[in-house]
Amino acid sequence: MKIFLDTANIEHIRHGVRLGVVTGVTTNPTIISREGKVDYQKRVKEICSIVPGPVSTEVLSQDSKGMVAEAREMARWAENIVIKIPASLEGVETTSVLAGENIKVNFTLCFTLNQAVLGAAAGAAFISPFVGRLDDIGEDGMEVVADIVEYLDYYRLPAQVIAASIRHSQHCLMAARAGAHVATVPYEVLLGMMRHPLTDSGIKRFQDDWKRMMAEEG
Ligand code: E4P
Repeated sequence: MKIFLDTANIEHIRHGVRLGVVTGVTTNPTIISREGKVDYQKRVKEICSIVPGPVSTEVLSQDSKGMVAEAREMARWAENIVIKIPASLEGVETTSVLAGENIKVNFTLCFTLNQAVLGAAAGAAFISPFVGRLDDIGEDGMEVVADIVEYLDYYRLPAQVIAASIRHSQHCLMAARAGAHVATVPYEVLLGMMRHPLTDSGIKRFQDDWKRMMAEEG
């Protein structure tokens, strides 16, 4: 499973890339707004220059004509731009148009297999089921991820599933078990994926034992 960072924070993105594990980034208007008042285009271009793989940026229009125009403009910003299009009927139409122009679409705000079926049929490169938001309303977000993965595999469709709206490291391991191609994770969750008290205590014990042996030898 590939790891993308779900952030527009440059320092966090640089760290993830330095670790050698973050290969893409997803943003949305809320994520960008967390960075204060930034020049949107400049920020996205900067992210695209740091990250080796896909960087998703979201349109704000709600009608297809507006979404297509925004997407065409954003697609010029960098080679690795992917356009987030919402899972609405207007979004499906937009995805079909953009796919026909070889502009990569991340079909976002996806909450059901039915929405994913239409997104994939329209030619989306990525489908993003929102796990945390489904869990929030008492549904099983990861079940939707697993269903979409199984559906795409069964029909050998090229779209990749991005498990999105990830809230904690348990979500990451469940996404991996469900066969998600990508998990897009907040920075804190990325750090949490490596954390384990037995690793910390194990490192400390090795250090202590080594120091004790050296002191005895000396
Ligand atoms: C990613 O593509 C989504 O925009 C993001 O994961 C949404 O996360 P949230 O539900 O925590 O806002």
